[in-house]
Amino acid sequence: MIAKLENLLKEAFSDLSRADTREKAAQVKTRYIGRKGEIASFLKELGGLPAGERKAAGEAINQAKDAIEKEAERLLSSFDEREKAARLTTDRVDVTLPGRRAPLGKRHPVTQVMDSVEAIFSGLGFDIAEGPEVELDYYNFEALNLPKDHPARDMQDTFYINEEVLLRTHTSAVQPRVMEVERPPLRVIAPGTVYRRDSDITHTPMFHQVEGFMVDRGVRFSDLKGILTQFLHELFGEDTGIRFRPSFFPFTEPSAEVDIRCVICSGSGCRVCKGSGWLEILGAGMIHPEVFRTVKYDPEEYTGFAFGLGIERIAMLKFGIDDLRLFFENDIRFLRQF
Ligand code: DAH
Repeated sequence: MIAKLENLLKEAFSDLSRADTREKAAQVKTRYIGRKGEIASFLKELGGLPAGERKAAGEAINQAKDAIEKEAERLLSSFDEREKAARLTTDRVDVTLPGRRAPLGKRHPVTQVMDSVEAIFSGLGFDIAEGPEVELDYYNFEALNLPKDHPARDMQDTFYINEEVLLRTHTSAVQPRVMEVERPPLRVIAPGTVYRRDSDITHTPMFHQVEGFMVDRGVRFSDLKGILTQFLHELFGEDTGIRFRPSFFPFTEPSAEVDIRCVICSGSGCRVCKGSGWLEILGAGMIHPEVFRTVKYDPEEYTGFAFGLGIERIAMLKFGIDDLRLFFENDIRFLRQF
């Protein structure tokens, strides 16, 4: 039996030395010293030995078992060490790498232009006023000298909610709202969202405008020209050419449209300015006496000017965008560029 045991021991050691993975080493260990392993069957044979030999044989078996166990444990923990070392190199954190930046949000280009327009007029002493987007026909049209049968109502395709209520078609509606509760002198801008039944590459049913007006004794057309010239120079640059053209709006008399030199071709003529070298940028005029009478201002005492401009149109020109709808699709790749 002792001889058989020595053979087993040799076999076990050589099996262990050939185990090249942790798993194989564990299998070898179980095969020899597991509950149903080789050593266990030696122990079973113990009972069949003559009484005098049992003690020595028992001790020999235990020694063999201890030896195998020790070697197996040594091997297993060396596999554990190696695995840990491997993980330390592969999982290593390089503290010298630059950190990952959290993506930074930006203001929408329409908001950016809105903010610049507001900042310029704040600098010129204008206050900011707001009005409702769901508006009364009265403020959107009537009070602006546009009675129900006025043909100029066709200039703006209106979303009506009922006979008297509509989605405002322009921020001009804020004009009579402010004037009926405040007395001159007034210097006010009214930025906001407006709605028209219109949709193509230069029109969306919802867009943004800034209305502005100044009312006091002795406000003249030259004030209108001075303030708007100053504004456009701040917005588009000091060298930007500007011209005033006669026009018509029911709420102003006289009325004008203001053009700037084409920002794309600098005036030589291109697709954007349709060859004219000029871009229409806002509508303006001296506030109509009828509008003053409606809000109970005496047109003999007060005069004033008003203007209105479209924010998306300015954003398109400033950023060189040729399709208005891009502003409202909110594709992050588009928005990131501004
Ligand atoms: N409300 C006009 C529009 O939506 C713009 C406008 C033109 C406003 C002339 C004014 C103005 O105050 O005087 O097209």
